[in-house]
Amino acid sequence: MTLGAPLVIASETESTNDDAKRGAREGVPHGAVWVAEVQTSGRGRQGRAWLSPPGENLLFSVLLRLRCAPARVPPVSLACGLAVRDAVARALGAGDADVVVKWPNDVLVRSARDGVLRKVAGILVESGIAGAKVEYVVVGIGINVHTRALPEELTAIATSIALERDARAGGPLAALDRGELLAEVLSNLDRDVEHVAHKGLGLIHSRLTRHDALFNQRVESTEGDLQGIARGVDLEGRLLVECDDGSLKRISSGEMRMRLA
Ligand code: BTN
Repeated sequence: MTLGAPLVIASETESTNDDAKRGAREGVPHGAVWVAEVQTSGRGRQGRAWLSPPGENLLFSVLLRLRCAPARVPPVSLACGLAVRDAVARALGAGDADVVVKWPNDVLVRSARDGVLRKVAGILVESGIAGAKVEYVVVGIGINVHTRALPEELTAIATSIALERDARAGGPLAALDRGELLAEVLSNLDRDVEHVAHKGLGLIHSRLTRHDALFNQRVESTEGDLQGIARGVDLEGRLLVECDDGSLKRISSGEMRMRLA
């Protein structure tokens, strides 16, 4: 395995993504990982904050020096979602349909309590480009692991591995080892990321489709300017949406939400 060394573990930092980007500029090698128990300025996608109580969850960033074309960053970002999805599914002992990826890379779990999909992990991918090549990709991952008490306003949309394991077992289980979960995610990233960076999404496309939360679902953009039925992702990592007028749109950025038909 090429990921996980050097490994920097901090009790507190502003954002592990910022630590990794600083490391990238200072010449730290491919595979370095920064983990923190607390982030004082944890960031999510679309400029959101990523909040996590001290010591409960898994917050880390991985530095990848992929030297690929910038167009390969979105496919790599999808591969990262799959890597986290597979690690969460293994931790839960859950089947294919119960842990899924919502484009581009939110990981959702279908709760044994009520059958509702809720977000268990988020990924923030940031890259540095030099000329026609990617110099580095920083993959920042936040997985809700031990948290059982989520803020009231999040309980409808967010969950944790602990809550979902308890629900499956019918009572509280012993805590999962966050180190083992980290090792599993790193090994899954190792399996796919370099391949996707250099050869594209082809080999993982069927797995992406199998675990696609949006596939054949009615969706709308969070900005409200697009509605239709999601039809999977293309080989460039764009979300395909069949609009109500029959046209097929290819979405390369932004966020979609599921709508009831
Ligand atoms: C999202 O779903 O919006 C992405 C969340 C990414 C959060 C992780 S936690 C570790 C890393 N450091 C950050 O500041 N953000 C990412």
